[in-house]
Amino acid sequence: MSHNNTESTKKLAELASETRFAGPLWLREEVGALYAKGEVHTGPFSMPLLRMANFDKLSLPSENRNLRMLDLCCGSGVTTHELQVLLQQQGLEDKVDLVCGDFSAGQLEYLDKRIQRMGWRNTVTRQMNAERNGEPDMSFDHVVCAQGLMIIPDSQAALQDCYRVLKPGGTFALSVWYTENWILDVRDAVAQLPGLPNWPQTSLELTNSWAQGPWEDPHYVKSMLHRRGFVDIDVQTKIIMIPLKDAEDFYEVYDAFIEWVADRYWTEGERKRCKPLLRDAVVGFMERKYGRGRPFSIEKVCILGTARRPGCRTERASALSDAECSPKVEFADQKYEYKIWQIEYITSVGL
Ligand SMILES: C[S@@+](CC[C@H](N)C(=O)[O-])C[C@H]1O[C@@H](n2cnc3c(N)ncnc32)[C@H](O)[C@@H]1O
Repeated sequence: MSHNNTESTKKLAELASETRFAGPLWLREEVGALYAKGEVHTGPFSMPLLRMANFDKLSLPSENRNLRMLDLCCGSGVTTHELQVLLQQQGLEDKVDLVCGDFSAGQLEYLDKRIQRMGWRNTVTRQMNAERNGEPDMSFDHVVCAQGLMIIPDSQAALQDCYRVLKPGGTFALSVWYTENWILDVRDAVAQLPGLPNWPQTSLELTNSWAQGPWEDPHYVKSMLHRRGFVDIDVQTKIIMIPLKDAEDFYEVYDAFIEWVADRYWTEGERKRCKPLLRDAVVGFMERKYGRGRPFSIEKVCILGTARRPGCRTERASALSDAECSPKVEFADQKYEYKIWQIEYITSVGL
């Protein structure tokens, strides 16, 4: 059950604080419970993604072994939950080994308890950095990474590692945000605070402030999958209205994200002055807009993508090894990143 460290906890903690989105947030002890609230807005996209990847029609390997699946950036386990529903529907609980990977120890602890409570079989958590997940080459039949890629500092390395650990013919399923429309109401509420502190003006500004690369662009998602060597690429957008009980409920769900934006956008003085007023400003604004104690919905739009690592696994009569079926794809990203860094450095010293 419990997760074992592939890197030292200290190293992962450093990585978490480097993460552009909510770095220190993932390190809070209570993050599991905190993030579990956020499942309200990520969870509804998990089942459509898993179905799009045909995980509701899983076929078992011809070799006499269990199917191996990786739920990368599993968080508090909402996608894990939906996957378990599909496994139970197909009667496959004992035929699938599921690894849930994340670098946030707090979330994995939460998920460990959830696994125990729900009695999910053959399901383990593992602390891992998605950029170098530490799993052996071609060790998973399928990989899912829901709402993860866009916040990983080196998302290209993570995508490449997803390809690396997939078996030939294996499916990769991913989701990333297309629009984050909750930000608009909060922007209007913040405009009423003293001194008019800054706030992202559009969903695009928000997603850009945490992502490495324009992951909110379906063309970019498609292109990156293609570039990594994936085939049978299908990328779609999905709109879901997320129901919230009332304005207080809205704040509970988005509390951590609102705080993250405030920390990123505000000066120390603004934080001191405005943070204590933030909750009342947002809840009050939402109550005036949607009615006190009344339910309302927020439109969320997500990009869902599925792709396959090429290979003859399904077609072959197991005459070829996995490596022969699907050669390794190598990239020289490190070199490019170094060059970009050099240019930025030269610019910043004014040469
Ligand atoms: C937005 S949550 C998504 C959680 C879940 N998959 C869902 O759909 O709700 C993103 C998750 O990615 C994890 N994460 C971010 N960067 C990571 C990295 N470099 N390696 C592993 N996990 C990472 C965070 O800890 C967090 O649990």
